[in-house]
Amino acid sequence: MRVYRVNDDWLSRLDGDVRNDTINMLRGLGLDRLQKYPPPKIGGLPFGNETRILGRYLKGRSSQLDPSALSRFYRSFASDDDKLKYRAFRQSDRLTREEWAAIIGAENIDKWVENKLLRAMPEGLFVCGFSIAVLDGLLFMVDPFNDHGGPHHETIMLDEEYGEKDVGGDIQPFHHAYMGQDSLQMIEIMERNELPKGGRYLDCGPGAGGLLLYFSRNFDEAIGIDINERAAKLAEINAELNGLTNVKTHVDDAINLNGRYGKFDLISWNLPFLYLPDEWEDNAIDAFGGDMGIGLCMRFIDTVPELLTETGTTCIAAMSPCMKTGENVLEERLKAKLPKLKLDCTLRIAQVSFAHTRDIWHFHQKAGIRKFEAVYLYMTHGMGKIRRIEPTAARKAVDVLREKMYQRKFA
Ligand SMILES: C[S@@+](CC[C@H](N)C(=O)[O-])C[C@H]1O[C@@H](n2cnc3c(N)ncnc32)[C@H](O)[C@@H]1O
Repeated sequence: MRVYRVNDDWLSRLDGDVRNDTINMLRGLGLDRLQKYPPPKIGGLPFGNETRILGRYLKGRSSQLDPSALSRFYRSFASDDDKLKYRAFRQSDRLTREEWAAIIGAENIDKWVENKLLRAMPEGLFVCGFSIAVLDGLLFMVDPFNDHGGPHHETIMLDEEYGEKDVGGDIQPFHHAYMGQDSLQMIEIMERNELPKGGRYLDCGPGAGGLLLYFSRNFDEAIGIDINERAAKLAEINAELNGLTNVKTHVDDAINLNGRYGKFDLISWNLPFLYLPDEWEDNAIDAFGGDMGIGLCMRFIDTVPELLTETGTTCIAAMSPCMKTGENVLEERLKAKLPKLKLDCTLRIAQVSFAHTRDIWHFHQKAGIRKFEAVYLYMTHGMGKIRRIEPTAARKAVDVLREKMYQRKFA
């Protein structure tokens, strides 16, 4: 089990004056300018979603979660001030005292160190305890990203020698508060649809608050429910950072809401959807999808009818296992379930997906899984109708190539 020392957590310090001062400081730094710079592509295949990223760059929109082979090239156009801020808040670089002074003021450095917002490193350098992501002008504090190929930055997680036996008092199970490329992709895909506006919005598992804050701007009231206490707190802080007063978060199990929070016009969940070995369950609550990666998804769907207003819509991100036999497991299970729940469902297939590590790739192969389909499920009250929207022909052609490349890489 991953553990951390609560008192060393930058997030545990963000209350009262420290919270207000930090929020005011971050609001004044002009960090929204960083949003158009994509991180580098360091895992998987050498190129990322380059046309999408170029399109966003030209419009000044956010690509901060979308890795690009041309990351350095894009960043070469940033001002010196923005380059320094990118290194400080997005790349988790170790900076000198002078460099930090230029960003937050010399008088604040020791305060930030005391409050774990900065960590003192060897050779007089300092590294930020958190990262900043910017989406559509919204600022998000998040646990440090580790996507620039540097040393491991999950700074508050303790070494492996600590474990379950040490849990108690200041040492607690650690779950990071998440935001990633899949968060950005889900926002983009949801936006393509006509979504309800006004009324009440529920985002399950908000993590750092990506979807919750983004779509909260269309609603009178927005609620985030996360089982991870750190995530619920961070999403609330991020709502405050962006002046969104209609957002509330709660620590709760989204599978068992039993009407406690009422009904909603829009519900979203970028679900934990990976098919991982059982021993990962406790450590990867933001990723572990249960049975075939869709166990949690199927259990949540059971609760949708009682959460949804009469005209409401639910959007769920899932990963559907496609077996070597040709069976599409998620679709087969939905066919059996939806008529009983009186829900209609549109499945929008985004692309195929594969494990990013050899071990997990073989774990999937052993289970008879050929590939996964990244899919978005839109559900409304209905009679159990299912409609499938295929990806474009170009996307399908790229996916055939990707399947071959992953096979060559891992088989
Ligand atoms: C893939 S992350 C998505 C985070 C965020 N929505 C985003 O897209 O950036 C899944 C989230 O679901 C949360 N989660 C997992 N199981 C949950 C449960 N039973 N109830 C509520 N939240 C849960 C995790 O803590 C995590 O924050």
